[in-house]
Amino acid sequence: MAKFIVENSGPLVGEVEVSGAKNAVLPILAATLLTGDKCEIYDVPRLRDVDVMCSILRAMGAKVTENWDEHTICVEASEITSSEVPYELVKKMRASFFVMGPLLGRTGKTTITMPGGCSIGNRPIDLHLKGLKKLGTRIMMDQNGSIDGIADHLSGSLIYLDFPSVGATENIMMAAAVAEGQTVIENAAEEPEIVDLASFLNKMGADIKGAGTDTIRIKGVKELHGAKHAVIPDRIETGTFMVAAAITRGDVLIKNSIPGHVMPVIAKLMECGAAVNDEVDGIRVRGDLTDLVATNIKTLPYPGFPTDMQAQFMAFLTTVEGESSVMETVFENRFMHVAELNRMGANIRVEDRKAFVPGNKRPLVGAQVVTTDLRAGAALVLAGLYAKGRTEVSEIYHIERGYENFVEKFTALGAKIIRVDEE
Ligand code: UD1
Repeated sequence: MAKFIVENSGPLVGEVEVSGAKNAVLPILAATLLTGDKCEIYDVPRLRDVDVMCSILRAMGAKVTENWDEHTICVEASEITSSEVPYELVKKMRASFFVMGPLLGRTGKTTITMPGGCSIGNRPIDLHLKGLKKLGTRIMMDQNGSIDGIADHLSGSLIYLDFPSVGATENIMMAAAVAEGQTVIENAAEEPEIVDLASFLNKMGADIKGAGTDTIRIKGVKELHGAKHAVIPDRIETGTFMVAAAITRGDVLIKNSIPGHVMPVIAKLMECGAAVNDEVDGIRVRGDLTDLVATNIKTLPYPGFPTDMQAQFMAFLTTVEGESSVMETVFENRFMHVAELNRMGANIRVEDRKAFVPGNKRPLVGAQVVTTDLRAGAALVLAGLYAKGRTEVSEIYHIERGYENFVEKFTALGAKIIRVDEE
């Protein structure tokens, strides 16, 4: 088991280049199953989750060629040889579920078990299934969590999502792209990753309008063809480096970033007193110009404050003047980093879905902490960069699921992080 040893690093200074978005590339890779033609995906981040998705595509019979010098993956699924997603892969990653929509669209059948991934709450899949059922899929579940989907014929429908689920919107969009007739998804998720997937599907010949709003209209087409697509930059990696600049009172230029995708993070950092500027090459964040102060945040579906930035921002709020509050509304169990930050002296109190962060009255001190999920892991590293002394962050495989070249990128900014392999 590997761990990170993180030490107080002083201000991070310099430039960092953001990788392609994990949450965009995973559904896009799944969507390549919708055609037998070759698809080329560019700006792919080299991540454990991407490896898992490639293994799933190969298990379905696709030919997957990875060229990591170019950050490109080619997929050619000329024949689907299996519609059963192996459990060993599904249990590693919740996003495995993305292949359900494409497999139903391409072959009319799929077998999958309940997905794994980060332990951030219950994470049901009822909305995915509700949508796929409305398109004409018969769903059968057994007691072991195995789910069979059979669709002799997919036909367009009006689908209202009770919550704007990102994954459900994507799965439904992929199946509906090849259903007969029109599908309308109401209360759809509006995340940039949805727009990126729709843009890829449209390049494949789909007819999708309204992605990025709460109503997506999909006119089904008979067949999709191959396409080439460059993935958008990762807005959560962008946000993580923005917070890293602020928490270390540093000065970092974050290249390959789209300010419009991280507006709530920009707004909240500025409320705290950080300077955030949209420069020609990227977003520049300075935490060294003035004393930083408390704010309140509430996570919401896009364009609200992203739940995937909640833990990192909370780590930052432990270092500013005054009490802040952090409310989590997207997931019901996403405060597992609180216990770990408290081991470092943060003294955060949780009441139901709200955490109260007392700020910098007591400075953070290094401790042995455990990563409980991907973004919580990033938060602990950020806290370790600021804390006095040495922080040991274990279970870092979570972090490596979603951040490309994590240590290298931080080290280039002056961070003292080393990765050690434990016996
Ligand atoms: C995606 C992201 C994840 C991010 C999350 C919210 C990927 C691979 N992952 O996850 O990083 O934290 O969006 O921005 O893109 N829900 C249901 N029923 C469902 C589906 C979801 O009740 O069928 C609930 C979930 O339990 C959760 C909320 O909806 O409380 C949001 O989940 P969802 O938007 O689906 O997140 P994911 O797609 O899993």
